[in-house]
Amino acid sequence: MPRQNPLAEVFLETCRGNIDAELDRCIDHNAASGRLQEAMRYSVLGGGKRIRPALCVAAAKALGQSGDEALIPACAVELIHAYSLIHDDLPAMDDDELRRGRPTTHIAFDEATAILAGDALQTLAFGLLTEAPGLSESIRLTMVRELSRASGHSGMVGGQAIDLESVGKTLVLSQLETMHRHKTGALIEASVRIGALTAPSVSEQALDALTRYAKALGLAFQVQDDLLDIEGDTNIIGKPQGSDAARSKPTYPALLGITGARDHLATLLENAQQSLREFGPEADPLRAMADYVVARTH
Ligand code: IPE
Ligand code: IPE
Ligand code: MG
Ligand code: MG
Ligand code: MG
Repeated sequence: MPRQNPLAEVFLETCRGNIDAELDRCIDHNAASGRLQEAMRYSVLGGGKRIRPALCVAAAKALGQSGDEALIPACAVELIHAYSLIHDDLPAMDDDELRRGRPTTHIAFDEATAILAGDALQTLAFGLLTEAPGLSESIRLTMVRELSRASGHSGMVGGQAIDLESVGKTLVLSQLETMHRHKTGALIEASVRIGALTAPSVSEQALDALTRYAKALGLAFQVQDDLLDIEGDTNIIGKPQGSDAARSKPTYPALLGITGARDHLATLLENAQQSLREFGPEADPLRAMADYVVARTH
């Protein structure tokens, strides 16, 4: 079993505090409906590891930035993630009733409110990016483009569509990888790239290396998620263990077996860490996050 990296816990804890405070602030006004706002707050603020925003901040730090300018972009990514989870749990999709140890949004409220809360979080994310302080208009625009590509039909939503079309089918490894790269990898890649874009003079070479890191980590993230669905404990993972098998979802362990999936995970971690070899200690938070993603128990 991979060991936990103590730096990751400290780094994540600090990021979580900053991110949660910003998220709280950006969903505390302006909603035309109190119930809608309550559902948005319920799904965004009720826990969550905040891995994507932490990766965003860590990527900025890897390029010598303080990470402060990455905070609002990081929140934008987390809002997209929160919306994707609300919709992922709906009866028409995975039909799950537990998320982060609490009833899913459509159970705590109702289906229509859950759909609308997801919609509203998605548009809020893009609005937030256009206002991110300390960044030029042109960088903000590039970030909007990155997030849009990563979250829509060419990214996360496209991957979710492949996921639903693949139920009950046996995919070959390349097809499974394509699905995972879209449904989970794309947003993780965008988190890292958007964080990197806060560095005004980021080189193509550094951005490529960070992108390679994020691609490997994005896949690793979903392999571990699939493993936790089999080996995890509902009380710890905070979502129903066995959900994938119950819905005949194609997963890495289903295709490669548990040992095969673990070996694959180790290779992906190695690839992610190798991509950072040209970076100095400023990339340690990214290195620690990679260790965290594969060793996490929830
Ligand atoms: C779960 O993501 C959904 C997937 C993409 C597999 P996380 O494991 O990051 O969920 P939270 O935000 O910590 O609850
Ligand atoms: C979801 O994948 C990926 C998303 C885009 C939300 P899963 O369906 O495996 O995520 P969990 O296990 O429900 O969190
Ligand atoms: Mg799903
Ligand atoms: Mg699901
Ligand atoms: Mg899962």
